[in-house]
Amino acid sequence: MQKEWRKGRSVFRKPKWSLFFLILPILCLIMSGCSRKEKETPPAVPSAAGRDSGGLVIGFSQLGSESAWRLGNTASMEKAAKEYGFRLIVENGMQKQENQIAAIRSFIAYRVDVIVFAPIVEDGWANVLQEAKEAGIPVIMMDRLINIKDSDLYTAYIGPDHYQEGVNAAKYLLKKAEELQKDMAENGKIHIVELSGTEGSSPMISRFQGFHDLIDRDERFEVLETVSGDFLRSKGRECMQKLLRKYPGEIDVLYSHNDAMTLGAIEVMEEEGIEPGKDIVIISVDGEQAAIDLLKEGRINCVVECSPMLGDAVMELAQAIVSGEDYPRISRPEEDCFTEYDDLSSLEPRGY
Ligand code: AHR
Repeated sequence: MQKEWRKGRSVFRKPKWSLFFLILPILCLIMSGCSRKEKETPPAVPSAAGRDSGGLVIGFSQLGSESAWRLGNTASMEKAAKEYGFRLIVENGMQKQENQIAAIRSFIAYRVDVIVFAPIVEDGWANVLQEAKEAGIPVIMMDRLINIKDSDLYTAYIGPDHYQEGVNAAKYLLKKAEELQKDMAENGKIHIVELSGTEGSSPMISRFQGFHDLIDRDERFEVLETVSGDFLRSKGRECMQKLLRKYPGEIDVLYSHNDAMTLGAIEVMEEEGIEPGKDIVIISVDGEQAAIDLLKEGRINCVVECSPMLGDAVMELAQAIVSGEDYPRISRPEEDCFTEYDDLSSLEPRGY
C-alpha cells in the first residue's frame, strides 16, 4: 500500500460543544441528586459512539451495486467492520448522487464517528462535506476521488490509482501491437473501441486519461469511438452491439473500463460469431473471478487489476483518525496487471 502521511489528528475535530454534552448528564445527575428528582435527563443529542458498546459507528455511503467489484467492496467493508467490532451503517446510493448526499446528511444527524463514502461522480460534494466538517465528523473517501477546491473538506482518501490502471492497459497494448500490426490492421492502423465507465466519475476520467496519454501519441493506433457503458454489464452489451454494427469487421481492440461491461460485450461478440481474445483483442479492468477465468481461457487478453478489498485498510484508518494517531492522507493499494503473457496457474481465487 502506497501512503502519504498526515501528521497528528485530523483537521476534523469535534466542536467544543461536544464537551458540553459530555458534562451535561453529569450536571443533571448532580442537580437531580440535590433536588431528589428521580427523572434522568439524557443528553439532547447523544453521540453515536455513546449509544453503542464502545466500537466506532461508521456511516458508509456506497454508490450502488452495479458490478461484482462493487458487491465485493461492500462485502469487504462489512466483514472488516465486524472484525474490528465497529457498527457499520450502509446506505446504497443506487447510482444517484442525491441519494448519497441524503445518506451523508443522515449520518451527520445521527452523529456517527466517521463517514466513509464512495462518490459516484467527481463534482458536487462541497456543501455536504462542509456540513460534515462543521459537525466535526471525519470523512474518508473510498475508491473514487472528487474534484474539490478545498481538499481539507475530506480527511483522507483510500483507493486505487485509476490513472495508473489506464496506463497499465496501454502498456499491455503497446506490447501486443507488434503482433497486431502483422495480422490485423489493413491500413497499418490498429483500430480501438473503448467502453468507458460512468460519465463524470473519477475511474472513468482517469482510466481514459491514463490510456490516451500513451496511445494517442502513437501513430499505429486509432480510437474509433469511446462510448459510456456506465460500468454496467447490460450497457456493455448494448454499446458493443452498436459498435459492431457501426464498424463491421474493423475493430481490432476493445478497451473496457470494467469487467462487467466486458462480460456483456463478449456475449454479443460470441453471438455474432466473433472470437473474443482472437478476432478482437480484449483489455478489461477490475480482475473479478469471471474475467480472470476468461483470461485463462484466452477469451480476454489482459485484465488490469483494481482491488475492491479495502475494508481492513478503511477500518484501520478510521481507528487511527478517531484515536488522534498519525494517519496516511492518501493510501493506494498495490495493483497488478494480468495478461496472456503471464503464468496465472498460481493466482489465488479473487474473492469477487
Ligand atoms: O470505481 C471502481 C469501479 O466501479 C470498478 O472498476 C467498477 O467495476 C465499479 O463499478
